[in-house]
Amino acid sequence: CGIVGVIGNNKTTDILLNGLEKLEYRGYDSAGIYVNNQDGKDYLVKEVGKISKLENAVTDDVQGLVGIGHTRWATHGTPTIENAHPHFSEDNRFYLVHNGVLTNFEELKTKYLSDVNFSSQTDTEVAVQLVDHFAKEGLDGEAAFRKALSLIEGSYAFAMVDKEQPDRIFVAKNKSPLLIGLGDGFNVICSDAMAMLDQTHQFVEIQDGEVVILKKGSVEISKLDGTPVKRDSYTVDLDASDISKGTYEHYMLKEIDEQPNVMRKISQNYLNDDGSMNIEPALLEEMKKADRLYIVAAGTSYHAGLVGQNIFEQVADVPVDVELGSEFGYHMPKLSKHPFFIFLSQSGETADSRQVLVKVNELKLPSLTMTNVPNSTLSREATFTMELLAGPEIAVASTKAYTAQIAVEAVLAKALGMAKGLDDAKKFDVKKQLALAANGIQTIVDEKETIKKLTADFLTDQKDAFYIGRGIDYALSLEAALKLKEISYIHAEGFAAGELKHGTIALIEQNTPVIAYVNDGVGASHTRGNIQEVKARGAHVLVIASQKYAEAGDQIIIPEIDELISPIISVVPAQLIAYYASLARGNDVDKPRNLAKSVTVE
Ligand code: G6P
Repeated sequence: CGIVGVIGNNKTTDILLNGLEKLEYRGYDSAGIYVNNQDGKDYLVKEVGKISKLENAVTDDVQGLVGIGHTRWATHGTPTIENAHPHFSEDNRFYLVHNGVLTNFEELKTKYLSDVNFSSQTDTEVAVQLVDHFAKEGLDGEAAFRKALSLIEGSYAFAMVDKEQPDRIFVAKNKSPLLIGLGDGFNVICSDAMAMLDQTHQFVEIQDGEVVILKKGSVEISKLDGTPVKRDSYTVDLDASDISKGTYEHYMLKEIDEQPNVMRKISQNYLNDDGSMNIEPALLEEMKKADRLYIVAAGTSYHAGLVGQNIFEQVADVPVDVELGSEFGYHMPKLSKHPFFIFLSQSGETADSRQVLVKVNELKLPSLTMTNVPNSTLSREATFTMELLAGPEIAVASTKAYTAQIAVEAVLAKALGMAKGLDDAKKFDVKKQLALAANGIQTIVDEKETIKKLTADFLTDQKDAFYIGRGIDYALSLEAALKLKEISYIHAEGFAAGELKHGTIALIEQNTPVIAYVNDGVGASHTRGNIQEVKARGAHVLVIASQKYAEAGDQIIIPEIDELISPIISVVPAQLIAYYASLARGNDVDKPRNLAKSVTVE
């Protein structure tokens, strides 16, 4: 979910709606705003569906000087108007938006709110009714808010307006992301700086357990017990044009096309002409001590971790485990003696990964976050940060962040291997490889029309599809299948080519699409055998092979690159296949159903 707020600006409604549009990637099943003119008049507008529907529902008279807004990714309660935020208290005094999940809401409801009439099924409504409950007992708005916060458990970013004091917004945060933006004579609130770049580039971070009283000319931060906190603002160095679609119909295609430039940017930023590298020496010192790396991530980032595992093991001679945050945090295996943690996260906000980092910090273990969003929660809380430099990624299906993650992993593996004086690291010319990656991606994206046609031939009207490969191609197959599932809704599986015959081959029927990767030298000839096996059972096979292992009849050829980082190029046909399959089916490519780009609940 995403939240926004503004105080002290007479364009409140526009700022809220524009902000929500920018945050739509965080969820889009319903949305709403609350606006108050500080003169006794207020408005609540909510809609089910995307922000554009909310915009249509907002009439010209909805104007004011303070407001809050929300775009929702449903956790508790189906997407309905009643369950959409802002939620309000029974007596229509308090209005509140929330991002996160409250874990003890049932308990609080039974204990304090048994005689309250609830209008939704959400955990959030419990929070706002609870504030009201304490206000009715005689506390003022702020005291009632603090009292409620002291009882609430779970994750939250809250912004609340009290109709009796509409000159301020009450804000609080625990685990869910939240920033204050400093405007000229007004202030804003947002889950992500991107939402407010039109208004300001100056932001103040809020930490877990803090409360903010936001007025048009002041930001008062304090701890829950009231102790004041002083914090400087920082500048977000992004341009509003970085997050525009330009001439593209979809962000996803724009982001696919940006990948060659991302490779160049990573190379320029981390690799110098004289062969030296811009990597914090302290990070390498810490990593040199590690006897095992634990890469923790979710979704596409997890898949980038699987590719990285191979790179770190080969180039930096260190064993690597790759872990899903949602599993690892709660079922932590016996750790090695000197573990080092790498958190991979495009957004830097994924709650599943963050709960692992919290535990890692409790254990006082060293960590690095590789993220696309500097100043994100995972970046602030890890010992070290490396930026992905991919530029804002807006499409929900991740593309350039995946290739950037592999590139940055390769850079770090090289630096670590060099720091250890390893021959394998000397041989791995990462600068040259990133240049090959940029050119190779360009070759593939220039063949869009061919891939579009292949997609139409192979995937139109299909229910299921398989991606298969061995070694590095297996890791890649998982990502390729995920891309297809996410946006085309075709059921797809990524499979180790040799494993298919041990059961899943039963699903191969006449014309079942099987897309086979042949980039992995060790596995190439065996994968060819597996291709024959599925062909013999009727599969319609599309082969994506590296120049070196290509055979006559292979449909897509991957230009020259070191096998270790070959997924940087060979994922691109899969990204395009997913894109064109989604387009052909009339889906919303950038905002696929049920998903959100940044998932800040566990
Ligand atoms: C969400 C997105 C995925 C993404 C995953 C991890 O589920 O829909 O595309 O891969 O989160 O996100 P992160 O920002 O941590 O890389």
